[in-house]
Amino acid sequence: MDTLLIDGSRPLRGAIPISGAKNASLPILMATIVAPGEHRLANVPELVDTSSMLSLLGRIGCPSLVGAQTRIDTTRVAFCEAPYDLVRKMRASVLALGPLLARCGEAHVSLPGGCAIGMRPIDQHLKALEALGCRFELEGGYVHGRVDQLRGAEFRFDVVSVTGTENVLMAAVVAEGTTVLENAAAEPEVEDLARFLNACGARIEGAGTSRIVVHGVSSLRASPTAHAILPDRIEAGTYLVAGVITRGDVRCENMRPNDVAPLLDVLRAAGARVECGPDWVSAGAEGRVNAVDVETAPHPGFPTDMQAQVMALLSFAKGTSRIKETIFENRFMHAAELLRLGAQISIEGNVATVTGQPQLSGATVMATDLRASASLVLAGLAAQGRTEVLRLYHLDRGYERLVEKLAAVGASVERGQEGRPRFAAPAVA
Ligand code: EPZ
Repeated sequence: MDTLLIDGSRPLRGAIPISGAKNASLPILMATIVAPGEHRLANVPELVDTSSMLSLLGRIGCPSLVGAQTRIDTTRVAFCEAPYDLVRKMRASVLALGPLLARCGEAHVSLPGGCAIGMRPIDQHLKALEALGCRFELEGGYVHGRVDQLRGAEFRFDVVSVTGTENVLMAAVVAEGTTVLENAAAEPEVEDLARFLNACGARIEGAGTSRIVVHGVSSLRASPTAHAILPDRIEAGTYLVAGVITRGDVRCENMRPNDVAPLLDVLRAAGARVECGPDWVSAGAEGRVNAVDVETAPHPGFPTDMQAQVMALLSFAKGTSRIKETIFENRFMHAAELLRLGAQISIEGNVATVTGQPQLSGATVMATDLRASASLVLAGLAAQGRTEVLRLYHLDRGYERLVEKLAAVGASVERGQEGRPRFAAPAVA
């Protein structure tokens, strides 16, 4: 299996171009099913997850072509199923539910199952779609959904759910009547999905806030103009932390500064140097940052997807920080691995207490999920000596051209093979 070999404690300096957002690409790829025709998407990142989603579209009968633009033809839909072999690799395949019900009146989607960061139930997805008239049966590890006519309704989420909001949005657009969603997810990726659907003829108001109103229309069609996926705020946030943790200065370009505002507040509070332009942000530091408390929350709060990365940064801070994770029940897996690098972290329920250290030292560590692996890479970039991050496939799911982007700003990183001997014996005379 691939690993990442990092020689640490080198300040990173330079500009990194930010790719399209994984978490906007995935719902928008599924949303093409709701609008028959030939779609063109720009700025779709080349990731394992986006190619999995394109394979799912292929299995449904919608061919695609990846290039400067990603082209998907949803003129015909042959199957209304998201099979286990694809869903188990990527739980976001559950986003097929709403679009297939909207297009075919039927959907058979494998239950996604949990993952390293939590149980990841989909009860909110099902309750919201039931409010629109869908009926579900759980059988054989699949959720089987059917609907005769989607009807607009008022629905309030019990918990804020990003893909839950996206699933019901992709059905409500062609429901009879108006749908009002309360306590909806306000993430920028939800807003980008709504922009895409409105370009296909939907009538969505309020996306990007917690109250979304959808006036159902009889049908959608592929927009003649290409939709450009918004920049990935989590990728950008990860590289901004890289600039600060290595005491260099990294400038992320082709991004939307406002989308990372909660992170910038934390970096500034920690004493990092932050500058913003119209479509770029730079972040750096001279020395160790100060400890700061962080609490994750749905957007516009501090994003849970940046929690692991900030924990890596605070492992080097002056003082003790408290990190409270309020979104997922088990999203501290990276802490155990950071301990292997010499970090001082204790966990009590959903609060991690991080006592910053002047230095960490490189070691072999194992990634458990996408953002945990990013956290270990960041710690390795700042730690003294060599760090090897195992199970690189987690990173490949969400970071396009990571090695290339880091190397371009001075990081010493290269892909390795797990188990490859590192210490050659001295030549025998
Ligand atoms: C999305 O996951 C993102 N994934 C996640 O990013 C992100 O961490 C998460 O939102 C929170 O921001 C995509 O967009 C593809 P949720 P999602 O439904 O939609 C509970 C990454 O690293 N819940 O907002 O699956 C759930 O257990 C990934 O890019 C229910 O109880 O998350 C969690 O505690 C990781 N019932 C909370 O709500 C439900 O029906 C938020 O989950 C749905 C969710």
